[in-house]
Amino acid sequence: MASFMVSMAGMFLAFFFVFIVTCFVVHIYRKKPVTTNNLPPGGFGWPLLGETLEFIRAQRNGTPGKFIKDRIERYGNPSVFKTSLFGHRMVVFYKPDGNKFVFGNENKLVALWLPEAIGSLCGKCLNTSRGHEAKWLRKVMLPCVGPEALSNRYVGAMDVVTRLHIKKQWEGRNKVTVFDTVKPCLFELACRLFISLDDPNHVAKLGSLFNTFLKGIGSLPIDIPGTRFYRGKRATFAIKKQLIMLINQRKLALKQQNASSFEDLLSHLLQSSDENGRFLSEMEIANNILLLLFAGHDTSAVSITLLMKSLGEHPDIYKNVLKEQMGILEGKAPGEALNWEDIQKMRYSWNVVCEVLRLNPPVIGAFREALVDFEYAGYTIPKGWKIMWSAAMTHKEEDNYPNVTKFDPSRFEGTGPTPFAYVPFGGGPRMCLGKELARVQILVFLHNIVTKFSWDLLIPDEKIEYDPFATPVKGLPIRLHPHKL
Ligand code: HEM
Repeated sequence: MASFMVSMAGMFLAFFFVFIVTCFVVHIYRKKPVTTNNLPPGGFGWPLLGETLEFIRAQRNGTPGKFIKDRIERYGNPSVFKTSLFGHRMVVFYKPDGNKFVFGNENKLVALWLPEAIGSLCGKCLNTSRGHEAKWLRKVMLPCVGPEALSNRYVGAMDVVTRLHIKKQWEGRNKVTVFDTVKPCLFELACRLFISLDDPNHVAKLGSLFNTFLKGIGSLPIDIPGTRFYRGKRATFAIKKQLIMLINQRKLALKQQNASSFEDLLSHLLQSSDENGRFLSEMEIANNILLLLFAGHDTSAVSITLLMKSLGEHPDIYKNVLKEQMGILEGKAPGEALNWEDIQKMRYSWNVVCEVLRLNPPVIGAFREALVDFEYAGYTIPKGWKIMWSAAMTHKEEDNYPNVTKFDPSRFEGTGPTPFAYVPFGGGPRMCLGKELARVQILVFLHNIVTKFSWDLLIPDEKIEYDPFATPVKGLPIRLHPHKL
């Protein structure tokens, strides 16, 4: 037995050694020396790893902006700086002008890029497409997630699902762990809206696979047993297998005219062709549904959790939100569902949400790739280098937000922050496709929670960790106090 263990350990070490050497050779080969001496200031850190570990450490410590702040201070406050992350040379943009430049030059000087782990798990979909193809996919999916779908169909459905969820999971309880409760609710909602799946067992099974997938996308793409990426890859395979099964069932239903021609995202994707008459393959449909199911619940669940944390910390703001939401409730018949007009009345509540997303943007930023050599702020950015724009840092700059750490929803009154200083959903042609859907999900949830409960945080000042999205480490346990009728 012992010799078996020793030989297994030997094999593992040999495999690991070969893996590291291969990565190193690929890394050296890929990094052709850059001859220009007009690069932004900065450093590349360790061979291969670059500064990735510091970057990940700052996220796990709940201070994603610190990685950038430390470097800005070290290099004398430049507009951009260079680093090396995930095996790639990268330039970090963090000022409003920089965000404007990046968002405004999509498909001209830069194009969307994803770290290998995300690209390889998601497969060919909107998130991994560029240019014309991305534009077409966005156009196809928008009717299922944009204002048209929301105003006509989704708001009422969301309200009904949220009420049922609160009845089952919150009412009659003393304590609730917010994130653990909200996340399955929003996943169930996304499954209903996008693929009309409402079997609770099936949804729960898919939900647990999604949690493993999510850990995989935030990892280094090391495909050996025991790694997050390895587990994520297997979970992704299982999710796509189930989605393909649902796609085939739907195809049959459409053929037999058992499903209406526009029932949900799934039917819509099955029936949409581009200008050359090409339809998406089953795998492309599965990949895009995977993207929307994942993007469509986790970020919003995180936002609701952070919102409840902030309201627990600021009773005066909770009172103002309650007043606005009670005003809307009182204008409705008993049991009447919320509608699109009600959402438009939730102005103060939305300002509060915006301030939550400013202080802890669920997505800290995203990546691009330089399509050509170009100049920015007097520096040359070479073709092929990656670019990161950072909501986490832009939102924490005193220049953009006086008294920057203060929780102050009034910043969003009137015209709000200066353009490109507030970017929780990104900007330009690749701005978050589900921004409006997220707004409605969050506000519907908020309405149903504040009109029923107030709460105390059981862990004061609970630490927030980014893995990959901002989440309180213990999931935000709270004590509930139902309103006295
Ligand atoms: C508060 C919640 C949310 C936040 C903070 C958020 C944030 C973001 C950010 C920062 C991006 C990247 C933009 C870029 O690369 O420049 C993005 C992309 C995206 N989001 Fe969201 N998102 C949220 C909710 C949603 C929801 C509910 C959906 C559901 C449909 C969604 C779907 C997408 C999609 C499909 C993309 C990729 C767009 C593309 O590549 O063209 N998001 N989101």
